[in-house]
Amino acid sequence: MSLNLESVSKIYGEGSRHPVHAVRTMDLEVKDGEIIALLGSSGCGKTSTLRMIAGFETVSSGTINLAGRRIDHLAPAQRRVAMAFEGYALYPPLTIAENIGFALRGDRTQAATASAQVKEVAELLEIGPILNRRPNGLSGGQQQRASLARALIRNAELHLLDEPMGQLEPQLRAVLRGRVKARIQERGYTAVLVTHDQGEANAMADRIAVMEAGVLQQYGTPAELRDRPANLFVATFFGEPPMNTLPGIVTEAGYDALDAAGAVALRIPVAAPRGLAHGRRVVLGLRPHRLHLGRDDYRGVMVSNQWLGDQAHVAIEATGRMLIAIHPTRIAARLGETIGFGFDPDDLHLFDAESGAALAHGAAS
Ligand SMILES: Nc1ncnc2c1ncn2[C@@H]1O[C@H](COP(=O)(O)OP(=O)(O)O)[C@@H](O)[C@H]1O
Ligand SMILES: [Mg+2]
Repeated sequence: MSLNLESVSKIYGEGSRHPVHAVRTMDLEVKDGEIIALLGSSGCGKTSTLRMIAGFETVSSGTINLAGRRIDHLAPAQRRVAMAFEGYALYPPLTIAENIGFALRGDRTQAATASAQVKEVAELLEIGPILNRRPNGLSGGQQQRASLARALIRNAELHLLDEPMGQLEPQLRAVLRGRVKARIQERGYTAVLVTHDQGEANAMADRIAVMEAGVLQQYGTPAELRDRPANLFVATFFGEPPMNTLPGIVTEAGYDALDAAGAVALRIPVAAPRGLAHGRRVVLGLRPHRLHLGRDDYRGVMVSNQWLGDQAHVAIEATGRMLIAIHPTRIAARLGETIGFGFDPDDLHLFDAESGAALAHGAAS
């Protein structure tokens, strides 16, 4: 069902000497049937947001609506929300099967076929063999999948998954991402996934909400975040390896990228977008995939060259700063050799040097 957060804030220890402002006036809408991800580094407020939606934390201000019904004042059990907790929260005296099926006992439509459903979801998550064991003594990855199964089995209006696969081996995680996503889609569930792993967010989510320090930085599809990052934070956080950034200045002839001492390091002769005053301080951004080696527009010294099996990661020192390029084939040049490179002005991103806000994507007018 559709979910709406309006101006939701969370302050822990409000009124105390050291309040923690974990979430700041967050607006978020999730469409019915959509899978979205809250993505951000540890401590940015992802879990707090999820727990407010589920009802395990109160909102300090703002409102939450699910399927058009206001839920932020309701007890968790009244919200029709299923959640997989970051810390698993399994009941130690119960077996894994009992844990997974726990919420079905009170559900008349699901209770009759509960054991078949438990078996089915356990197989989906590769924990069939441990159904008769108790949580103690199981690995973190097994407990985590039990917790995920307990949420997925429920026919809730909203599924909240807090770092649901963080403890799994990379191969298993890759397989389960696909299975979990397919299951959510088949059943038409609406889901909010919390993760600090952008690979996971990309693989599973229709839209991604990037958070930093309690503030929603941008909410969009993976392609929007990649091609039109709203600010420098998103530009350098989202994408691997991160976007190259060069402090610069708008000139009559285009842009000058400046080195660490403030001297002109690269002249970029393109007409700047209208409305940008000459002398304005900006940051130029260029994705590593868009820095093309072997052109002769600019020259730099190759300081690192790694072949990753399917692409080369090359570091060039060109501006008193380091630029990273991704190249599809092996680069023969040796470290310390001079190498030519170039890029298309259309691939440049332009940010305000002070606020970090995006000014243009494709830096030509
Ligand atoms: N119960 C709590 N009491 C006080 N501070 C908390 C509590 N829970 C979380 N925090 C703080 O709120 C901020 C956001 O935490 P959290 O939502 O868990 O972030 P994330 O899930 O993104 O890692 C952090 O600074 C964290 O220390
Ligand atoms: Mg968390």
